[in-house]
Amino acid sequence: MSWNIIRLDTVDSTNEVAKILVSEGVESRTVVVAQKQVEGRGRFGRSWSSPRGGLYVSIIVREELSRLPLITLAAGVAVVQALQAAGLKATIRWPNDVLIRDAKAAGILVEGLVGPEAYWAIVGIGINSDFSLEDLPPQLRHQTTTLRHELGHRVDNEDLLEGLLKAFQRVYPVTGEQAAVVDLCRQLCSTLGKNVVVDTGSGIIEGRAVDIGPSGYLVVETKTGKRMDVAEGSILEEG
Ligand code: BTN
Repeated sequence: MSWNIIRLDTVDSTNEVAKILVSEGVESRTVVVAQKQVEGRGRFGRSWSSPRGGLYVSIIVREELSRLPLITLAAGVAVVQALQAAGLKATIRWPNDVLIRDAKAAGILVEGLVGPEAYWAIVGIGINSDFSLEDLPPQLRHQTTTLRHELGHRVDNEDLLEGLLKAFQRVYPVTGEQAAVVDLCRQLCSTLGKNVVVDTGSGIIEGRAVDIGPSGYLVVETKTGKRMDVAEGSILEEG
């Protein structure tokens, strides 16, 4: 199976380009890649700093919207595997951050779309690959890293893209077996076993992250021993 790759220079956001392509009747397995984004987006309406040198990718696949949380986990596993192939040890901070040590090296934004005849997932992946920390706004530098910074040399984004698509191709079918993809993610997830503070959008939950449930939610055990299933959220602190 091959990918139809559309390479662009500067875009607002590859996810936005992907949405337009879907409305125009694009095929499943189309991939939009840009060298720079001027309105890169993260989860919860945050912006995603996207200087030249980063890898900005949106993979378009026909999907059921109920599976989007699992697709997020699968994309995280694929990014970790691609970084491993590039010689780096990375982990997943549930649900969508890829870390090297404790610093964010990549982020994932999966968006669902109701197209003319089907449902679609836009799997947006941003990897801080071939730029220096100085190319990021100062307030982000202490919590972020780049592959160039970690490896101490330039990174070839074409090789990285190839590794990423190979890994996604391997992992994506596994989302058909919920348990298997959750299991892969568990093995790579640095959040499990840690004390966490999670912003769920409708409140803050504090406790120990003990598991990832079958549909991709985080199981948090609070101080009173209550187990809570957190379907969506951002980890504010973990330690
Ligand atoms: C996050 O950490 O909140 C998710 C960041 C996702 C960034 C990628 S870059 C490619 C795609 N296009 C976007 O505008 N966002 C995603």
